[in-house]
Amino acid sequence: MRLLVAEDDRKVASFLRQGLEEEGYAVEVARDGAAALDLILADPPFDLVILDVMMPRRDGFAVLKSVRERRIVAFHESGHAIVATVLPGLDPVHIYSELFGALPPINPGIVEKSTARPHPPAGPAGTGPPVSFSRSGLAVNWSPQYTSLLEFAEACDVPTRFSCRSGVCHTCVTQVIAGSTVYTQPPLEQPPDGTVLICVAEPGDGVVLDL
Ligand code: FES
Repeated sequence: MRLLVAEDDRKVASFLRQGLEEEGYAVEVARDGAAALDLILADPPFDLVILDVMMPRRDGFAVLKSVRERRIVAFHESGHAIVATVLPGLDPVHIYSELFGALPPINPGIVEKSTARPHPPAGPAGTGPPVSFSRSGLAVNWSPQYTSLLEFAEACDVPTRFSCRSGVCHTCVTQVIAGSTVYTQPPLEQPPDGTVLICVAEPGDGVVLDL
């Protein structure tokens, strides 16, 4: 089985390559999105592609968009990476995913990172739907004074990941463990089923987020 790892971080690429080769896979590595796209479109096709989301020259979403019409038929995407199969006819229900621990925060432009433990937001308690941050062990009620679940999480010092804050980059994509959310602004591209872009979403009747 031939695998392509598209990853610009040398250490991560090397770690993935070593682990996969030890399992008996033939692995090639692309260091940026453009190189990954060239390799994916060349013959013979790869059986599986692991795409980093943030890469130079083309991000993972741009690469995926360029090749989906041609041969990729199923993919899974998490906050960090996209796993895409190039086996024609494989049903997406046969793509499995697993979460590997808490993701480190991504907070561009914020120099001083908070070290506070997650806590209810300051001020009067909200009276809106319940919001649970499962990894942080915090359950609080939503308050409409916040414009998004991202902003609400920040007010609680729950570790967050964001970049554009406008539903474009998918950096803030978060697993919805239970409940529902409502978009206040439609994302440019929908995230995978079972996830939400918290920078442009509010809770529905209540939600449990993997944060
Ligand atoms: S931060 Fe970019 S989509 Fe939410």
